[in-house]
Amino acid sequence: MSESTANTSSVERSLVLVKPDGFRRGLTGEVLRRIEAKGYTIAALAVLTPDRERLAKHYAEHEGKPFYEPLLDFMSGGRVTAAVIEGERCIEGFRALAGATDPTAALPGTIRGDLGRDWGEKVQQNIVHGSDSPESAAREIAIWFPDGALN
Ligand code: RTP
Ligand code: MG
Repeated sequence: MSESTANTSSVERSLVLVKPDGFRRGLTGEVLRRIEAKGYTIAALAVLTPDRERLAKHYAEHEGKPFYEPLLDFMSGGRVTAAVIEGERCIEGFRALAGATDPTAALPGTIRGDLGRDWGEKVQQNIVHGSDSPESAAREIAIWFPDGALN
């Protein structure tokens, strides 16, 4: 294999949230179990109730959308578990573990497909968040773990 096609180091970090619905239902352990069973490493963990300021930064891309205010209400409505996970291509890998945004459509075998459902709310409550790109991951990790305590 030539140097250019070799699997050069692609260790990534991703920001994962167990959202208030998942936390309330006692699914934090199940989500972390699936992450570890897949082979990714947990690099940082925190339990907190996020305020709207933090959530506005996290969800800046969705500002102005119909579900934005309900999303901030939902996400500020209880404790979450924030995690930084680590591993080669873990951003894509965790998105695959999580499944589709709509928990009704999410395939069985995924976190959202196995554990989530539609509750008839103004916003989909879908148990987990995972960063969608390396740029998002870096931005989101700084929002949720601002003191740089990661090593
Ligand atoms: P996330 O950012 O939480 O990992 O989820 P995602 O990429 O799959 O979905 P995204 O499009 O980024 O939307 C962020 C979150 O907003 C809620 N949502 N509800 N039509 C709806 O009711 C609706 N659309 C989005 C979900 O909680 C989604 O995860
Ligand atoms: Mg997203």
